[in-house]
Amino acid sequence: MDFNMEFIIYTALTILAWTLSLSWLLPLVTILKFSKTCRNKWFSWIFVKVVGPLLNHAMTKMRKQAFNRLKDHLGDRKRKAPLEILEIGIGGGANLQFYPENSNLTVVDMNPSFLTYFEEMRQKHPQVTLKKAVITMAEDMHEIDDDSFDVVICTYTLCSVVSVRSVLDEVKRVLKPGGKFLCVEHILYPSSSWNSMLQKFANALWTIYFNGCTLTRKTDEEIRKTGFTDVAIDKHHPKDMWLVVRSQIIGIATK
Ligand SMILES: C[S@@+](CC[C@H](N)C(=O)[O-])C[C@H]1O[C@@H](n2cnc3c(N)ncnc32)[C@H](O)[C@@H]1O
Repeated sequence: MDFNMEFIIYTALTILAWTLSLSWLLPLVTILKFSKTCRNKWFSWIFVKVVGPLLNHAMTKMRKQAFNRLKDHLGDRKRKAPLEILEIGIGGGANLQFYPENSNLTVVDMNPSFLTYFEEMRQKHPQVTLKKAVITMAEDMHEIDDDSFDVVICTYTLCSVVSVRSVLDEVKRVLKPGGKFLCVEHILYPSSSWNSMLQKFANALWTIYFNGCTLTRKTDEEIRKTGFTDVAIDKHHPKDMWLVVRSQIIGIATK
């Protein structure tokens, strides 16, 4: 039963957000809706400087669990060759802290405004060698060769891409045979629940303020449909996450 006091508070906040967005905040909403440059700058700032710190505890816990899963899957890496990693939607580089020693990193992001924040983070993590940074949509990563990565990472990004299907097909293309895809995402609550209704009610506004981030995706189902050989997806509901993004998955799949 998810109709409780917390649900009522989040619903009231969403009604308030809609009311303000259609009145006082309308100029901001209009700018974000129609100017890609403003949207990109706004989102990189709000994600790194506001949302990141507010949700840092919950997101770090999820990232840590995900990278522990990856470690189990990679086993003992005795070989000397560096681990070739592609991260899609690198943002401010919040995952760098979890990358293994001797990692070669290629990053893809559609938003160039994140680069300054990413660069600051990179200075703190010299164990990772940056090979290439590509500003492009992950739906078409033609700059990246087939079968070229041991690992592809994607955290809190498939919620924002234009086409989850195209991105997952690209992930499968660029992974080496046996390569691992690791993701952490928020998804839609079960369709019959009150929480899913709240997600649908908040979604149109959320998408504008958070640069395309969508609350209503069933990303777990999309991953299962991609044709990986091995897929393991765990559901999580971290209590310290905001209710509308609390239904989360950690997924690991093998090409
Ligand atoms: C919510 S942020 C998450 C950043 C980072 N992965 C993390 O976990 O902190 C989503 C990131 O995905 C990027 N992104 C969204 N859609 C994309 C697309 N179609 N292709 C490439 N990057 C995309 C955004 O620019 C942003 O950097």
